[in-house]
Amino acid sequence: MKFFIDTANLDMIKEIDSWGILDGVTTNPSLVAKEGTDTPTRVAEIAKILGDRPVSAECMSMDAEGMIAEGRKLHAIAPNVNVKLPMCVESLKATRVLSSEGIDVNMTLIFSPLQALMAAKAGAAYVSPFVGRLDDIGTRGSDMLAETVGILYTYGFDTEVIAASIRHPTHVLDAADAGCDIATIPYNILKMMVSHPKTDEGIAKFKADYEKVNGPQ
Ligand code: G3P
Repeated sequence: MKFFIDTANLDMIKEIDSWGILDGVTTNPSLVAKEGTDTPTRVAEIAKILGDRPVSAECMSMDAEGMIAEGRKLHAIAPNVNVKLPMCVESLKATRVLSSEGIDVNMTLIFSPLQALMAAKAGAAYVSPFVGRLDDIGTRGSDMLAETVGILYTYGFDTEVIAASIRHPTHVLDAADAGCDIATIPYNILKMMVSHPKTDEGIAKFKADYEKVNGPQ
């Protein structure tokens, strides 16, 4: 499973990139606004850090014509920039055109397998089902993930499923169990995933036993 980080913060991206496990970055208008900058500026900086790894940049236009124009501009920033569109009829129309021009679309704000299926039929390179926001309203986001992956696999779509809106490490586990291609994970969750109290306990014990024989390190 590929790990993307869900942030527009350059320091967080650079730190996780140094771990050697980063496959891409997703941004959205809220994440970019948090950094006090604008999408084209920040996405250009992120694209440079990532080399050929994908970075998602979200359009703000809400009609197909505007999405196509904005998507072309965003993709022109760097070849690894893909275009994020919120699931709706206008985005389906825009996805058909952008994908035919070789511009990858990440269809976002997906909350049902049928939305994902329609986005895949329109040619989306990625779909982003929001598992956390479904959990937030008491529905099982992980069930939607599994159903989405199953349906796209059944019909042979190349569209990659990005588990998004990750609230805790268990969502990453659910994404892996469901066979998602990608999980886009917040910085703090990545930090939580790497550690375990039994690992810390084991490291301390190994150190203590070593030092009994070899003296303090
Ligand atoms: O960036 C897309 C998605 O991961 C955001 O999810 O619910 O944490 O705002 P959320």
